[in-house]
Amino acid sequence: MHLHLRCYITSMTGCKYNQNTLAFAEQMDELDPLKDFRSKFLVPQHNGKDAIYLCGNSLGLQPVATRQYADQILDNWRDLAIEGFFMGDNPWLGLHKRLTRTLANLLGAKSEEVTIMNSLTVNLHLLMVSFYKPAGKRFKILVEGGAFPSDQYAVASQARFHGYDPKEAVIEIFPREGEFTLRTEDILKKIKDHWDELALVLFGGVNYYTGQLFDLRTITNAGHVAGAVVGFDLAHAAGNVILNLHDWDVDFAAWCSYKYMNSGPGGISGAFVHEKHFNNNVLNRFEGWWGFREDRRFLMPPVFEPETGAAAWQLSTSPIMLLALHKASLGIFEEAGGLEPLRAKSLLLTGYLEFLIGEINRKHGQDIFKVITPKNSEERGCQLSIICRHNGKVMFDILTAAGVIGDWREPDVIRLSPVPLYNSFKQVFEAGRILAAAAEEN
Ligand SMILES: Cc1ncc(COP(=O)(O)O)c(C=O)c1O
Repeated sequence: MHLHLRCYITSMTGCKYNQNTLAFAEQMDELDPLKDFRSKFLVPQHNGKDAIYLCGNSLGLQPVATRQYADQILDNWRDLAIEGFFMGDNPWLGLHKRLTRTLANLLGAKSEEVTIMNSLTVNLHLLMVSFYKPAGKRFKILVEGGAFPSDQYAVASQARFHGYDPKEAVIEIFPREGEFTLRTEDILKKIKDHWDELALVLFGGVNYYTGQLFDLRTITNAGHVAGAVVGFDLAHAAGNVILNLHDWDVDFAAWCSYKYMNSGPGGISGAFVHEKHFNNNVLNRFEGWWGFREDRRFLMPPVFEPETGAAAWQLSTSPIMLLALHKASLGIFEEAGGLEPLRAKSLLLTGYLEFLIGEINRKHGQDIFKVITPKNSEERGCQLSIICRHNGKVMFDILTAAGVIGDWREPDVIRLSPVPLYNSFKQVFEAGRILAAAAEEN
C-alpha cells in the first residue's frame, strides 16, 4: 500500500497538477490506491444514482459490513443471552478494550490512554470533572470563539458548577477583524496574557464552522508553560487528520465516531487521558462499575479499584450495539493502512475541490465562493467552508437538488467535505461543475 501510494503521489506531482477536466478527475481515480474502499460504503441515492455525499463532517456513511456486525450482536443475544458477555466470537465483556488499539493508532495514543464510551458532550463533562480544577486566581477556561455550541454550554455550565460566572471564567478568542480563522500567534499571546489565571485550555481540533485545524502541539505546549491543563474536542479531527496525542503531551481529549469514523448516528464516543495522569491519586473522577478492574469486577467489592488507564473513566455497561457499529468502521481504517494514506489522498481531494472553486472565481473575476478554511493544507482537514457572495442558501439548495449533499451552517456557510474513504475525484469534479452552473444562474 505504502509503495503504491508513493508512486501515486509522485505521479500526481509529476503530472500537471489539478486540471478542470473530467479526464483528469478520472485519471486521478484510476491512480487512487484507495479507490476500492468506496465499495465498502452504502451511498444514499439521488434520482437513481449515487448522491455525491460530501457531508462526512456531519455524519459518515454506513459501511456495508455494519449490518453484519450488528446482526452478530442480535444473533448472540438471541442464542446466548447473558452468556454473550463471556462467550461467542466476540464476548461483550471487554469489547470496548479490544477496539482501542486501532482507535489509538488513529489518535497517536497508547492503547491504555484511550477508552470508548458515552457520547461526546458527556465525555467532555466527565473529563472536565477530572481536569478542570479551578483554584484561587487560576479558574479560567480558554476556548476558541465560535466553538461548537455544545462545547460552549459545557464550559459555561462547568464554570457555574464550580461557583463562577461564565462571563468571567470563560475566555473566548476570536479571529482578527476581517479574518475568519485564528492565528496561532494570537492564541499563544492570549495564553501568555492570562498565564496565571488559566486553569484549562479547551480547544477544538478542527473548528466545526471554518474547518480550521489548530496547531495542537503548539497550543498544548503553550498551555503547559502557562501552568494550565490542555484538552481538545476532536469531533472534526478524529479519523480526519493525523494526530499524535501522546507525543504532543495533550492532557485529555474526546471525540465522536459518527463523523469521519462512520460509526452511525449518535455513535459511541471516546476519551483520551495521557498516561502521565494514570497514577494521579488526587485527580477527581466520577466512577462506575464498568471502570472497575475487569478481573475482579464481578466480585463486586464495595470500594472502587480502577482499571488501568483511560478505561477507569468508564461508568456504565457498554452499549454493545454501538461498539459493534464502531468495530465495523474501525476495521476499514485498519485495512486502509491507518490515517497516513487517507490523509495523503485527502490533501489531494480537498485541494482539488479548492482548485475547482478557484476556477469559478477566476472566471467571474471575483470570489463568488469565498473559502474561509485556511489555504494552507496543513491547517485543515477534509472540509472546506464556503461563503457565497450572493444567495448562499439558494446556492446550497441548488447543490442539494442536483444530488450534492453538503450542509448549511447558519448564518452563511456551506460545508463540503470530500472524504478519502468514499469520495472520488470524479465526484468532486461533478460537484465543481454544479457549483459553476449555480454561479452562472446567480
Ligand atoms: C465540535 C463538536 N463538539 C461537540 C459536538 C456534540 O456532540 P454530541 O452531540 O455527540 O455530544 C459536536 C457535534 O456535531 C461537534 O461538532
